[in-house]
Amino acid sequence: MATCYRNIATLVSPAEAIGELTVITDAAIVVDDGQVTWLGKDLDAPACETEVDLTGKTVIPGFVDSHSHLVFGGERSEEFASRMAGKKYEAGGINSTVSATRSATAEELRANTAGLVQELFASGITTFEIKSGYGLDIETEKLSLEIASEFTEEVTFLGAHVVPAGSESDDYTDLVAGKMLESITAKWVDVFCDTGAFSVVQARKVLTAGIAAGLKPRMHANQLSNIGAIALAVELDCASVDHCTFLDDNDIELLKNSNTVATLLPGAEFSTRSPYPQGGKLMNAGIAVALATDCNPGSSFTSSMAFCIAVAVRDMGFSVDQAIWAATKGGAMALRGNQGVLEVGSRADFVVLDAPNHIYLAYRPGVAIISQTFLQGRKVFERR
Ligand code: NIG
Ligand code: FE
Repeated sequence: MATCYRNIATLVSPAEAIGELTVITDAAIVVDDGQVTWLGKDLDAPACETEVDLTGKTVIPGFVDSHSHLVFGGERSEEFASRMAGKKYEAGGINSTVSATRSATAEELRANTAGLVQELFASGITTFEIKSGYGLDIETEKLSLEIASEFTEEVTFLGAHVVPAGSESDDYTDLVAGKMLESITAKWVDVFCDTGAFSVVQARKVLTAGIAAGLKPRMHANQLSNIGAIALAVELDCASVDHCTFLDDNDIELLKNSNTVATLLPGAEFSTRSPYPQGGKLMNAGIAVALATDCNPGSSFTSSMAFCIAVAVRDMGFSVDQAIWAATKGGAMALRGNQGVLEVGSRADFVVLDAPNHIYLAYRPGVAIISQTFLQGRKVFERR
């Protein structure tokens, strides 16, 4: 049964061109059987069985969060507080979440993940990736990936997150690229390639083993330093290289001539007091950029894409249109998918904003303007 959402103040969808949006004012959109079947000016809207009035509201595609770590036990608020008091962020903090994850029951991990997925819906996110990486032994990595797959198809094996306490770095890399990889099921393989985590040589080993096993590669890189990881990401045709806090001109050239999306994670710089990468500059140079939450208990415990957009616009050189493009189409490209747009034939994943236009996403930071979230035409969140 077709439903027509009418009198929409502003309807927005990303264009093909990097950073550009198509905007229709006084719009309507028709949804039938989970798909968009028509959109345009309200004046031209076809008659429908059901009509919903959205006077004064904005409709945007559901956000695509291409980077999250939702399966974990415990929390690290004290670590955050000590960082804000001047302590440096180090990759080693991950091991405290590893201990808490190993001691949690499957039910506790599942319930924690389910709660965070609800937060994503409340944040307007309709497609999301979930990584493992807080188990770091075969049993807990396998369990983490099983739980992730209950919530999304975009499941990423991050056995190479850090070297677990008590292991030797090369031995652990061999375990991840060997027995662990053989024991798990996932769509993507990821490595944290950075100071304090895995070297470029180790990352290559894990990613090529993952590719040989049929997984598709993506990377965490250049968050804490630049050890030459971007060249590896581009060489292996990673769908995405994530963080990109520290890039040099050569990295920018490499990304420009690649199919690898640069995924930026403003929550991580915010919560670790790091410098913000200039994403607007990357997009102006013709690089496809995604914005993602990086939701995790250590470096970025936010599930709010609107927060990421506001920071990107305020501090990372993005225009509002570029930031919204990056949080929708850019995220979909980082998952090599076709979500993040509203056009005839696309999945009816969309968000209603309590706002007359999309600029409000950055203009009203911290204010709950996400009013309703629809996944394939079905309402999965409504703010009361
Ligand atoms: O994306 N960089 C590595 N992994 C996470 C941090 C995880 C943690 O601190 O627990 C990230 O920021
Ligand atoms: Fe991450």
